[in-house]
Amino acid sequence: MKTSDIRKAFLDFFASKGHTIVPSSSLVPQGDPTLLFTNAGMNQFKNVFLGLEERSYKRATTAQKCVRAGGKHNDLENVGYTARHHTFFEMLGNFSFGDYFKREAIAYAWELLTEVFKLPPERLWVTVYAEDDEAYRIWAEGIGVPRERIVRIGDNKGARYASDNFWMMGDTGPCGPCTEIFYDHGPEVPGGPPGSPDEDGDRYIEIWNLVFMQYNRDDKGEMHPLPKPSVDTGMGLERIAAVLQGVHSNYEIDLFQRLIAAAMELTGCTDRDQPSLKVLADHIRAASFLIADGVIPGNEGRGYVLRRIIRRAIRHGWKLGVRAPFFHRLVPALVAEMGEAYPELVARQSVIEATLRQEEERFFGTIEHGMSLLETVIAQMQANGQGELDGEIAFKLHDTYGFPLDLTADVLRERGFTVDVAGFDAAMARQKAMARAAGKFKMQAVLEYEGPTTRFEGYETLEDEGEIVALYRDGAPVEELAEGEEGVVVLDRTPFYAESGGQAGDRGELRAPEGIFSVEDTQKIQAEVFGHYGVVRTGRLALGQRVRARVDAEARAATARHHSATHLLHKALREVLGSHVEQKGSLVDADRLRFDFAHHQPLTQEEIERIEWLVNREVLANVPTRAEVMPLEAAKASGAVMLFGEKYGETVRVLTIGSSKELCGGTHVARTGDIGLVKIVAESAIAAGVRRIEAVAGEVALRWVQGVDRTLERLAQTLKVAREEVPARVEALLEQTREAARERARLVQRLAQAEAAALAAAAETAGEAKLLVRRVEADSPEALRELADALRSRLPKAAVLLGTVIEGKAVVLAAVSKELSARLKAGDWVKAAAEAMGARGGGRPELAQAGGGDPAKLDEALGQGKAWAQERLQG
Ligand code: ALA
Repeated sequence: MKTSDIRKAFLDFFASKGHTIVPSSSLVPQGDPTLLFTNAGMNQFKNVFLGLEERSYKRATTAQKCVRAGGKHNDLENVGYTARHHTFFEMLGNFSFGDYFKREAIAYAWELLTEVFKLPPERLWVTVYAEDDEAYRIWAEGIGVPRERIVRIGDNKGARYASDNFWMMGDTGPCGPCTEIFYDHGPEVPGGPPGSPDEDGDRYIEIWNLVFMQYNRDDKGEMHPLPKPSVDTGMGLERIAAVLQGVHSNYEIDLFQRLIAAAMELTGCTDRDQPSLKVLADHIRAASFLIADGVIPGNEGRGYVLRRIIRRAIRHGWKLGVRAPFFHRLVPALVAEMGEAYPELVARQSVIEATLRQEEERFFGTIEHGMSLLETVIAQMQANGQGELDGEIAFKLHDTYGFPLDLTADVLRERGFTVDVAGFDAAMARQKAMARAAGKFKMQAVLEYEGPTTRFEGYETLEDEGEIVALYRDGAPVEELAEGEEGVVVLDRTPFYAESGGQAGDRGELRAPEGIFSVEDTQKIQAEVFGHYGVVRTGRLALGQRVRARVDAEARAATARHHSATHLLHKALREVLGSHVEQKGSLVDADRLRFDFAHHQPLTQEEIERIEWLVNREVLANVPTRAEVMPLEAAKASGAVMLFGEKYGETVRVLTIGSSKELCGGTHVARTGDIGLVKIVAESAIAAGVRRIEAVAGEVALRWVQGVDRTLERLAQTLKVAREEVPARVEALLEQTREAARERARLVQRLAQAEAAALAAAAETAGEAKLLVRRVEADSPEALRELADALRSRLPKAAVLLGTVIEGKAVVLAAVSKELSARLKAGDWVKAAAEAMGARGGGRPELAQAGGGDPAKLDEALGQGKAWAQERLQG
């Protein structure tokens, strides 16, 4: 049975038992921050098991894409070296949501295995949770499995419910006892039955896990009964395929054999058992499916796992002798193999190929140097009898040559060495600390300050009086600042907002008795101490003077509009896209707002428009905004949005703007109507799973709309149509261009036909062939090819050699009829001819081309080619 037939047979079987066939969910879990990648069929039904979500069906079946790399379940390191580890695999499953339970689940599994898949019952073993007498009885009495092949397994992993037969999705969530079905590969394979000391051998292999979902485990480890007992099962497709195809290793099943064959062709490796080929076959699946689901190679989180998988594959290609990007060329074989079951592979094939190629080009730029460093160090280690690679060197390989730690470890393991992981971590931590220090230093020199904290008056007023309590020039405290000097001013109280929470610092001016200071930015120099950064425009400023501080009201108003709009946008995003939208970063100033958030795919035009409607409707409602300071607990109880990972004090400021309620220390509009029009102007990805929206509000939005309007007006004028007709007109123009290109191609062909008719007459007889060697006029290589083709189809048994000069470059083209091509290979022919002018070329036996060399010697080349052909055709 082919792997694809097994997948289908499984789904069809459960469909015939009243199950709805549900498509696989994305590899990027939606709205579940506890999970790096989808790793089991039940992930997409988590909330249904918990009773938080209802579906129109109570029975479901799926073939689910799963990745186990980089997260809690990590198989990356083992891939290629064992018979059954994969980074990507498919899990077949059937699910009951409070419908059937143990008896039916077991009966279905048995029927499928023994009657549909026709596995001999005496080869099947089962395990049950030690306390699950019910499951034991169903197997023994209901199904009739001999008791010696039913094994009870208790809490064998060191804690209550920590058992091979108690399945948990993670530290929290739905869980329950399970029963597992094993296949006995026969006595010739070493290994013992489940529960025995040598159970880890390869003889008894688990093929199916049936979980009886009964509890929800909370973060304290307590078990709460689920609303309705349910069923979740999982069978690895690759494993059952190995069993049904009578092979021992998953990599021997049809699907992998074809991927391995493709990898052999690409790498030139002829040893089918090379572990590196298995790595490539495995990794092309994980990498392609992850990219298809929107993951982008990067330096963090999911993106970094993907990068590690790709680089590990490249390294194995390198090991097989490949020295240029190749991995992306495995994609067509994968699409041929799995595209039918997973249409996203077909739809995104070109994105997958381009992403892989780009990543390959990057890494091929440094792998050579990294490998040679590693080889040198390995030689030294061998000489010194050292077994472990220095963590500093592993870090250098990571930092300078882009070698992920597990890649380095992979190379070392092949030679019997290990890596000092603690040393690597220490080097990494040191570098991070240095980068942080450097970042701060660049932003602003640390200013020494001892004195009162700044009282911020800027929520109520934009103009206020304060006293100069500190002055700085070039990072050092001074008594005064003179005209033209740049510096920092600290006041005891100020209406200027210092940058925080993503809101830019205020601009404005400070008027002192003898001078004016322009404030270009306001930053906190300590937790509660505000520094006004700028320059003395006229006069001077001195310590102890009283100044009138005036915030640039226009800039502040524009900033406030963008900040308030950000809150409304956040709310609308969650409404339109879902509650997984979590703020990852934000920046607001007078010119725009920028909002980064967790979401796995680009927003559609329709989603963007809906978000704009929601936000602008709140603006038009024109309700007053409200800021309240309250204890953190009260804020939590009020349902205000807090940022994950942010530290809050005992009392917090809760801001209500329209329907949004968030903790925020920023400055905002008084009524939502003050925001004016809000328009989203850009949407993009900034990292794996993180999108960025940029938007403008108020006057900036008006200017943006006017800009778009001007562009459209210019287009309409240039095209001389009404604005509404611009798209249709542009499409029509593009169609005309395409038609013109097609027309040109037709003409070139007709011209070639006409010319061929005239030229054919000049062909000479050479043996049984018609030989034509000529210098012709052609203005492109395509035209030359057309002409050669036309001649070949006109002459029976033709041998045609044409030469021309295109833009100063000589081109020689040979076309030979199939019957002659054994005797006269076009590739050899052009080579023999082109040699006379110092050019090179080649091609297939029936069509070949050469170019370059000295165009003045083209005739000589053609002469030499003619003699060469005559000799072969007449002899
Ligand atoms: N969810 C169960 C597993 O992954 C079926 O094994």
